[in-house]
Amino acid sequence: MADNALLEARGIAKVYPDGTVALRGVDLVVRPGEVHGLLGENGAGKTTLTKIISGLLPPTSGEIRWRGKRVRFSSPREALRAGIGMVHQHFALVGPFTGLENIALGEEGGGALSPVHVASVRRRVEAIMRESGLEAPLDVPVEDLPVGVQQRVEILKMLYREVDLLILDEPTAVLTPQEAEELFSVLRGLAAQGRSVIFITHKLAEVTAVTDRVTVLRRGEVVATRETPGSTAEELARLMVGEELPPPRARAERAPGREVLRLEGFTVPGPAGKPAVQGVSFSVREGEILGIAGVQGNGQTELVEALVGLRPWSGHAELLGKDLAGRGPGEIASLGLAHIPEDRHGMGLILEFNLAENAILGRLRPFLDPLGRLRWGKVYRFARELISRFSIQAPGPRVPVRYLSGGNQQRLVVGRELSKAPKLLIANQPTRGLDVAATRYIRDLLLRLRDEGMAILLVSADLDEVLELSDRVAVMYRGTFAGVLSREEFDRERIGLLMGGVREAG
Ligand SMILES: Nc1ncnc2c1ncn2[C@@H]1O[C@H](COP(=O)(O)OP(=O)(O)O)[C@@H](O)[C@H]1O
Ligand SMILES: [Mg+2]
Repeated sequence: MADNALLEARGIAKVYPDGTVALRGVDLVVRPGEVHGLLGENGAGKTTLTKIISGLLPPTSGEIRWRGKRVRFSSPREALRAGIGMVHQHFALVGPFTGLENIALGEEGGGALSPVHVASVRRRVEAIMRESGLEAPLDVPVEDLPVGVQQRVEILKMLYREVDLLILDEPTAVLTPQEAEELFSVLRGLAAQGRSVIFITHKLAEVTAVTDRVTVLRRGEVVATRETPGSTAEELARLMVGEELPPPRARAERAPGREVLRLEGFTVPGPAGKPAVQGVSFSVREGEILGIAGVQGNGQTELVEALVGLRPWSGHAELLGKDLAGRGPGEIASLGLAHIPEDRHGMGLILEFNLAENAILGRLRPFLDPLGRLRWGKVYRFARELISRFSIQAPGPRVPVRYLSGGNQQRLVVGRELSKAPKLLIANQPTRGLDVAATRYIRDLLLRLRDEGMAILLVSADLDEVLELSDRVAVMYRGTFAGVLSREEFDRERIGLLMGGVREAG
């Protein structure tokens, strides 16, 4: 037993039913009153480990001690009763219910939404809000709240249950920089009261900003546990990635060329009659990356889907002078638009198909013979070319794409789209879920294409990515552009405020 441990996990291994080995003997000690960072690349095993700690998944082997006693939680409810609560990346709130109802719901005894009970819950939640500095409206259906505020409701729900260990799985992914700062100060406050937090992230700056200690996971193993003060970002990066990466590509100085895409008063209907995109106007020129920043769910998805012909829209849109009104996806693509979709599994790839079949999705014509039959020799030659040009790690063109890693699947999507020699590339969340090396590869590639003159519309919820790559940044908030800034005007603080809906004067 480690001294001074609130939670001690020893030798935790997890093999999923499909044979994936997610954890291979992980040790983790969380002390009372500390914010403990869990740092690792996508796929390192962070979520799996914390799902085991919070009773959602059983470990394949290993043991957990909680306040010195061996425990085996068979459900999140049991873990919660013991004082461990987890806020997942996808929240578990009931949309039509208010914040207060969500907090009161599912309490021991269940079903007790009587007025007297609700009033007493309200009093306690208000006290918790004052004490923690975590404010959220309690009487609004949570589905009407921005995601950052929904997250607060989730955290309040855990604090209401008086957890001593709060686990947050990549909480900053849905926050503006200011909201993230506020969350950090709440977490520091909890730690000062003697509670503990496991804070999951793959961002080094966040580890430095909020944690006392950090455990680095790589490929299901702990590579180090360190006191955060005294650890450098370079050291943590090396531990996380396991290799040194070359420096990122420098962006060339270049003036943008002719206008490729132009939108005026572009409006996309959304659910319940509210437009998802409301009268947006902008253009993208050759040799330019226009980045769209914003917290996810502010109309970015609808904007892109409408542009590529998958949703109805109104207003004006033209690609190289050709009106896009009334054209379907195939026709728009043939005018020179390529699209890296945000959901590579849903829209980008057919997982059961092999690499070569996926390589020609949406562009069969060059591979057909005069009788309309696929020329497989040509298809496989093309697939092998993509494998080598885009450094796709795959045993060959016949491998089903579901056996490729996320990074290699994305290289395939990107390679296929670029082989269409587009004039405009729409890249929606192009590096989401990728490891550091694959992320670097895709970002460098986008910059190179821009340097070579391609017009690129980049949509990303990762503000660091938008700021690194874009020539201009538009901030999207509730379906409108809350400001367009050129590179000289980039300022995280200012963009963060726009992301949160704070309008600028004038
Ligand atoms: N339900 C599941 N079934 C099979 N494999 C899974 C499942 N969930 C996660 N994995 C795999 O387990 C590994 C660790 O995933 P995860 O714990 O989500 O990592 P992280 O949270 O660090 O990104 C990855 O290879 C992932 O693909
Ligand atoms: Mg995860």
